[in-house]
Amino acid sequence: MKGVILAGGTGSRLAPLTLVTNKHLLPVYDQPMVHYPIKCLLNAGIDDVLIVTGGEHAGDFLRLLKNGKHLGIRHLEYAYQEGSGGIADALKLAQDFADGEPICVILGDNIIEGNIRTAANNYREQRTGAKILLKQVPDPQRFGVARIEDGKIVEIIEKPKNPPGDLAVTGIYFYDQSVFDICATLKPSGRGELEITDVNNAYLRAGTLTHEVLEGWWTDAGTFQSLFRANRYVAEGGANKL
Ligand code: DAU
Repeated sequence: MKGVILAGGTGSRLAPLTLVTNKHLLPVYDQPMVHYPIKCLLNAGIDDVLIVTGGEHAGDFLRLLKNGKHLGIRHLEYAYQEGSGGIADALKLAQDFADGEPICVILGDNIIEGNIRTAANNYREQRTGAKILLKQVPDPQRFGVARIEDGKIVEIIEKPKNPPGDLAVTGIYFYDQSVFDICATLKPSGRGELEITDVNNAYLRAGTLTHEVLEGWWTDAGTFQSLFRANRYVAEGGANKL
């Protein structure tokens, strides 16, 4: 399995910090943010990695990560997303890199306490379709939210005003190669983006979406509040560190 870290977008919710650098290069306690998803992949035995980034500061990723060898990455590639057309738009750029293999996709601003080794192994056994990781949160309206009936996901709703539960869809996804066919069919949402939730709902309709609930804390770091929380969690509780 190969790994894809999505680190494009404008980071506008963190302006003015993101006027002078890419969001995923900002510090989270003692590491640049992007180190955490890298470590998460390495912990799951995934060391063939693509980083999709964009914007004016993309070159700084090369200065930080170089060829990745010093971090334990066996093979590191980069792709450049023009504009910020959404998570599924960034994911499209991973098609050549994936080359028919299954991929683990992590949003570059997601940080977890534990590891995804078991989930990755379960997905390796699953072989086809997709797997998403869920986490209970106090503020589900900020995320994709799974509506669950009889233990099964029946729908995923992106940023619902009235969430049908408190299980957020984290930014850690496992996909087979059909993800690229799905991405090719997507239309921009109301906010003008190709939504990863539409990708997951397509797998759900095909009956090939599985899920697990993530253990340990999980946070994004894309707003001032969540970036502050990420710093606090890492400082106090440790996390996947390189
Ligand atoms: O963190 C989990 C949540 O991430 C999910 O629950 C949501 O379903 C999913 O839509 C996403 O929500 P956000 O609104 O928080 O996503 P955001 O726009 O902050 O983008 C998250 C990461 O995705 C960002 O750190 C980099 C990458 N990205 C995003 C966009 C819009 C790209 O690489 N390119 C893009 O164009």
